[in-house]
Amino acid sequence: MKVLFIGDIVGDIGLDAVEKYLPRLKRKYNVDVVIANGENAAKGRGITKSIYQELLMTGVDVITMGNHTWDQKEIFDFIDDTEYLIRPANFSEEAPGRGMTTVTKNGQTMSVINLHGRVFLPAHDDPFAKAEELIAEAKKISPIVFVDFHAETTSEKIALGWSLAGKASVVVGTHTHVQTADNRIFPGGTAFISDVGMTGPYDEVLGMKKESVIYRFKTNMPVRFEVPERGREVLSAFFVDIDNQTGQAKSTERILINADNPFKG
Ligand SMILES: [Fe+2]
Ligand SMILES: [Fe+2]
Repeated sequence: MKVLFIGDIVGDIGLDAVEKYLPRLKRKYNVDVVIANGENAAKGRGITKSIYQELLMTGVDVITMGNHTWDQKEIFDFIDDTEYLIRPANFSEEAPGRGMTTVTKNGQTMSVINLHGRVFLPAHDDPFAKAEELIAEAKKISPIVFVDFHAETTSEKIALGWSLAGKASVVVGTHTHVQTADNRIFPGGTAFISDVGMTGPYDEVLGMKKESVIYRFKTNMPVRFEVPERGREVLSAFFVDIDNQTGQAKSTERILINADNPFKG
């Protein structure tokens, strides 16, 4: 099974980049399943029902979330009815929505799990224990298990990667919006990257207008961060080829498309 994961989609520039490049990427890599992190899709803050539907129409099969899950109030009205939108599984038992889903493409089934880190982020339940619990459940359905670990530090993400080595097919990190150059396959066939990076404005700071971010750093004064509506884009993604029988990753590739690294078909 060939899987393409698109890193944090930020605002309209990110959505446009997905629309522009996803068909080409699917063709180039012969992709079976597309997963994308959509926690910043609604102008940087959460996701709306119409954006969720738009992404499915663009060719995304499963959308994962993160610390911005609840930013749009309307999510409470639709998250329980969405089969392919998941939020971190180690959120409170009280949280609506689900932390794991399954998707079947070209006769092959894969489980997708979303988890949230606990370092420099709000403290949720233990992601390590939750991962073990859900992977055991997922393995009853299919040997192919994909994990998006939304976390701040490379150490927490690498630690989760190692703890799931030989258990999950893929563990990707999201949230920092900067792609790391450490993609590898752990012993036991678990593909890993500390952070896939983001898909959105290329000329700002992590997708937010740079002027406000610079002002905040210089003055420590409160300022509202905003996502620009126009500008150059970056698309960050991660491709993994997984063996259908064993669920082990065979190869990985980092994908980074921007004005300095144009798409090569
Ligand atoms: Fe993000
Ligand atoms: Fe995040």
